[in-house]
Amino acid sequence: MGSQQQTILVTGGAGFIGTHTVLQLLNDGFRVSIIDNLHNSVQESILRVKELVGPKLSQNLDFHLGDLRNKDDLEKLFSKTKFDAVIHFAGLKAVGESVEHPIRYYDNNLIGSINLYQTMAKYNCKKLVFSSSSTVYGQPEKIPCVEDFHLNAMNPYGRTKLFLEEIARDIYAADNDWKIILLRYFNPVGAHESGKLGEDPKGIPNNLMPYIQQVAVGRLPELNVYGYDYPTPDGSAIRDYIHVMDLADGHIAALCKLLNADDDDVMGCVAYNLGTGRGTSVLEMVAAFEKASGKKIPIKLCPRRPGDATEVYASTKKAEKELEWKAKYGIEEMCRDQWKWASQNPWGYQSKPLKDI
Ligand code: NAD
Ligand code: UFG
Repeated sequence: MGSQQQTILVTGGAGFIGTHTVLQLLNDGFRVSIIDNLHNSVQESILRVKELVGPKLSQNLDFHLGDLRNKDDLEKLFSKTKFDAVIHFAGLKAVGESVEHPIRYYDNNLIGSINLYQTMAKYNCKKLVFSSSSTVYGQPEKIPCVEDFHLNAMNPYGRTKLFLEEIARDIYAADNDWKIILLRYFNPVGAHESGKLGEDPKGIPNNLMPYIQQVAVGRLPELNVYGYDYPTPDGSAIRDYIHVMDLADGHIAALCKLLNADDDDVMGCVAYNLGTGRGTSVLEMVAAFEKASGKKIPIKLCPRRPGDATEVYASTKKAEKELEWKAKYGIEEMCRDQWKWASQNPWGYQSKPLKDI
């Protein structure tokens, strides 16, 4: 698909979604540069990507330790390499942390992105795929969520995504040479089928699947199920979980749309949902993971988590029609691959912490 001439900058490429996307980009023949400050990732993930693609394609990947808040780091990269497009993952993403430390989120996510866009404009690289989130729908009034719904973020993290969407729309409005795709991910889970790449959160996980995974390998004793009195069939909340490899392929589809457009094509700044369009409850997810892993996941029924919506899932029509992309995997495959990653790497990319040996 990609050609040797096409070089893609992937910010945050050492992280969870970034590594899986970089792998697919390399497999599709693109050259890839990563910039990451390793704030929430480790370099071992890049070594795993190289191992998976083999020695030949590995030569098409280079890694730069750098921070988007530091313009010199970006300047060094752009002055040496001509990028055909940028996939921008780098950002902080923990909702709770963003409530406690809003300035940290506005600084990292907004300043980092503004530096990136200024440098892109300077070097005339105006094709961008941006990681947005279903968080921009807030508490959706209706489901499924459709891209033209009114947007409403509920916390500082969500507001950074909402502001960055608005900034992207303004950049395009001021200069129609830009071609921008905003991808609103629903709940990314799962791992590469090899079990060599996966999500490796630092500290106690905030999100459901990494938490279940850590219970399954014995790192945590039980799962707190937040809410059992929702108006849903089993009382637990419903989300649209999407396999990270489907998400990676969604990025390739978006990128190809940008790269295949003629210079004078007016593409605009367009948002797409990346989800499966299917809702699954917390208790259904627990049961699916137990089935895939053969492990019992002890649960504790707890009060609702403040700010959580009852039921969220995507309308997938726009991405299917305009990106020609559709998620392939269901929750069985998500749990199967997540368990493979967890069972082969119970402590993530690092070996077991010394204090626990
Ligand atoms: P992640 O934390 O695994 O990856 C993000 C990467 O960006 C990390 O490797 C981190 O070290 C790097 N980074 C952060 N700030 C940086 C900076 N200033 N300079 C350079 N590198 C920096 O997260 P992820 O799950 O892979 O998410 C990727 C993107 O997708 C994020 O923007 C996130 O907000 C968005 N997103 C994630 C989810 C999800 O549930 N995982 C859902 C919706 C949207
Ligand atoms: N949940 C539990 N126990 C846990 C963790 C989560 O019961 O230990 C429940 C939550 O209450 C929710 C569901 O599992 O009902 C999913 O929770 P996650 O934290 O995994 O995901 P959310 O849908 O709450 O939201 C996350 C981010 C949002 C982002 C969204 C989609 O927090 O910012 O994923 O990407 F928009």
